[in-house]
Amino acid sequence: MIKPIYSPAPDRYENGMKYRRCGKSGILLPEISLGFWHNFGDVDTLSNSMDMAHYAFDHGICHFDLANNYGPSYGSAEETFGLLMKKSFMPYRDELFISSKAGYDMWPGPYGNWGSRKYLMASLHQSLKRMNLEYVDLFYSHRYDPETPLEETLQALVDIVRQGKALYVGISRWPKEAAQVAYDYLAAHDVPCLIYQGCYNLFNREPEEMGVLKQAKENGAGFIVFSPLAQGLLTDRYLNGIPEDSRIAHGGHLKKEALTEKRLQQIKALNEIALRRGQTLAEMALAWILKDDYVTSVIIGSSSVNQLEKNLKALDSAPFSAEELEEMEGICNI
Ligand SMILES: NC(=O)c1ccc[n+]([C@@H]2O[C@H](COP(=O)([O-])OP(=O)(O)OC[C@H]3O[C@@H](n4cnc5c(N)ncnc54)[C@H](OP(=O)(O)O)[C@@H]3O)[C@@H](O)[C@H]2O)c1
Repeated sequence: MIKPIYSPAPDRYENGMKYRRCGKSGILLPEISLGFWHNFGDVDTLSNSMDMAHYAFDHGICHFDLANNYGPSYGSAEETFGLLMKKSFMPYRDELFISSKAGYDMWPGPYGNWGSRKYLMASLHQSLKRMNLEYVDLFYSHRYDPETPLEETLQALVDIVRQGKALYVGISRWPKEAAQVAYDYLAAHDVPCLIYQGCYNLFNREPEEMGVLKQAKENGAGFIVFSPLAQGLLTDRYLNGIPEDSRIAHGGHLKKEALTEKRLQQIKALNEIALRRGQTLAEMALAWILKDDYVTSVIIGSSSVNQLEKNLKALDSAPFSAEELEEMEGICNI
């Protein structure tokens, strides 16, 4: 049987998604966004990747987060997105907010990594082709480059906007001091930094501790969280061992060494609180981040429509009591 042409849910903006303003900008982002780091590459099942993207859009997730090297192989998540554009999303381009990035290892030789103008410009050019897009909504410097003058990286971002290849720019994983240079430089060149992308979750408080969360707000930028579930640790995935189809078993960035005995005890204890609250640990972990108005959106990863469906329930989460928050802090500080 021929699969029918995708037609998005007519009620996609009325079935529970909430939108938050991104810093001092005209942009609203869904509280939950979808990331293409894993499960959208050419090693993955295309129909599953497409089903997840369709399900997301049908439920008001209009922000998809990509990067040049997402896959594996490098570039293949953008190619999958390019197929989605061609087959499904072209008529809805203006409803979508698409980001890509450059900053990590992408192609061999001296020009395929870090933060030079040469790399950022060439990489975005390639990304647009792979994604079947004329422009991205948001382009990031994926990481701080200690060797390239910051002004070179930042001027490349300004020029990318001037060229119409991105509507907004952002920074990801920049340390606080360099981030301030970025906020100031970009504002002075009339291309204010839209957003900072950083890792933040119950197990990783670095943005709070280093002050980049507060700094984004003070500079009128939004803050978008990556790996809000600590790559799956903050879910029920590993409660009873390491499932064969899990991220740890696949042997990527999440190593089995991350699942220490102490970590497992923390996960179990947090899971108990979640059960008491009548929700899954994943829902609770997302709700914990979203309780904070410093955060504009969380970018979740997902390996199935089922996970997406479950995680969207975080949007209806009950508020946390002071006792619950205290208990959670205690567990995370063990
Ligand atoms: N800027 C950066 O440097 C940077 C770095 C990392 C990520 N990111 C962005 O952030 C996005 C999200 O990162 P992430 O994938 O690490 O996010 P995450 O949401 O912390 O982890 C996602 C993984 O958790 C598991 N999971 C999700 N929901 C679940 C549920 N309900 N029950 C059980 N397991 C569940 C799945 O793993 P299984 O495969 O085991 O099912 C899923 O692939 C990326 O796609 C990317 O766009 C950016």
